[in-house]
Amino acid sequence: MSANKKNIIVTGSAGFIGFHVCKYLLSKGFNVLGYDAMTDYYDVNLKKNRNSILLKSSSYQNVIGLLENKDLLFNTIKSFNPKIVIHLAAQAGVRFSIKSPESYINSNIIGTFNLLEILKKKEIEHFLMASTSSVYGANEELPFVENQKTDHQISFYAVTKKSNELMTHSYSHMYLLPTTMFRFFTVYGPWGRPDMALFKFTRKILENEPIDVYNYGKMKRDFTYVDDIVKAICLLMNEPPVNIRTNKKLYSNDTLSKVAPWRVVNIGNTKPVELMDYVRAIEKELNMKSKINYLPLQPGDVPETFSNVDLLKYLTGFKPDTDINHGVKQFINWYKSYYEK
Ligand SMILES: NC(=O)c1ccc[n+]([C@@H]2O[C@H](COP(=O)([O-])OP(=O)(O)OC[C@H]3O[C@@H](n4cnc5c(N)ncnc54)[C@H](O)[C@@H]3O)[C@@H](O)[C@H]2O)c1
Repeated sequence: MSANKKNIIVTGSAGFIGFHVCKYLLSKGFNVLGYDAMTDYYDVNLKKNRNSILLKSSSYQNVIGLLENKDLLFNTIKSFNPKIVIHLAAQAGVRFSIKSPESYINSNIIGTFNLLEILKKKEIEHFLMASTSSVYGANEELPFVENQKTDHQISFYAVTKKSNELMTHSYSHMYLLPTTMFRFFTVYGPWGRPDMALFKFTRKILENEPIDVYNYGKMKRDFTYVDDIVKAICLLMNEPPVNIRTNKKLYSNDTLSKVAPWRVVNIGNTKPVELMDYVRAIEKELNMKSKINYLPLQPGDVPETFSNVDLLKYLTGFKPDTDINHGVKQFINWYKSYYEK
């Protein structure tokens, strides 16, 4: 354990993004505690394998448990005494929220509530949490900017994340908890999620099976490479929103809350890619042709996402810019080395 570095808790540490965030923080010498229930939403072995990589570091420890287990969460936070909490654990996925809305209430609403109830009594320097571009819902004005109204979510997943934004705002106001909410735009990369397009397309193309392409291919996504997400999170970590009750000024264009040390920040690539161009990039990298099963737009899905990241750039000087061909190549290299041993 490094004694002079801050203790950081990462929830969702065995998940796709949490794993990459932990790896990066460990490489920078932080003491990290990962809290994850290893839920069976997708292949638990993938989560276990991510976790075993993290456990190779002597600065890493993990607790396997649900956010809903308030006693375990409380005792974990009490004994580890973190200065920073990065909350990425959630029931993710737009489509699964049609099938199993209750799991979103349990993980995202009750789980986040438990965490906030514990953190309100602690001296936390910065609480950072994942929201999603899905909160922009039916908004038609592109690109999506943080200060647009977000009142028309069209999936229950997005409803729970929008609720999280509201919950954290009130706790930030009442207990002066410095809070940053990230709105991620379709994250992809090595060790990715098996329920997401890149993973599913790669697997099916390799198995010579047809891939499902929704809205007859007329979709655009602001695909964001996971290393850019990690970099943005770790830079934002050092920029807690200022405490308005200690007379420090809010950043001049950071105006989403005038009554709490709270902000929401888009993290996206700012370059929407046509879904069919994404498919072509995968085909090119695999050197195989796909068979396509064209389907209508799925309930809950939006046809296009497009981020404005001026606020991220303003706060950190950083803007994601990984090219889709490079990112897809990195994923496929990982996929082959992981599954074709
Ligand atoms: N991947 C994306 O494109 C994307 C986009 C927008 C937002 N997000 C958000 O980013 C965060 C991380 O997403 P991800 O892609 O890494 O997902 P993931 O599913 O790979 O990781 C989430 C982790 O949280 C854990 N978890 C779920 N419910 C839990 C509970 N109740 N208690 C304890 N642990 C629990 C799971 O076991 C999993 O390991 C999530 O909050 C997600 O909603 C992701």
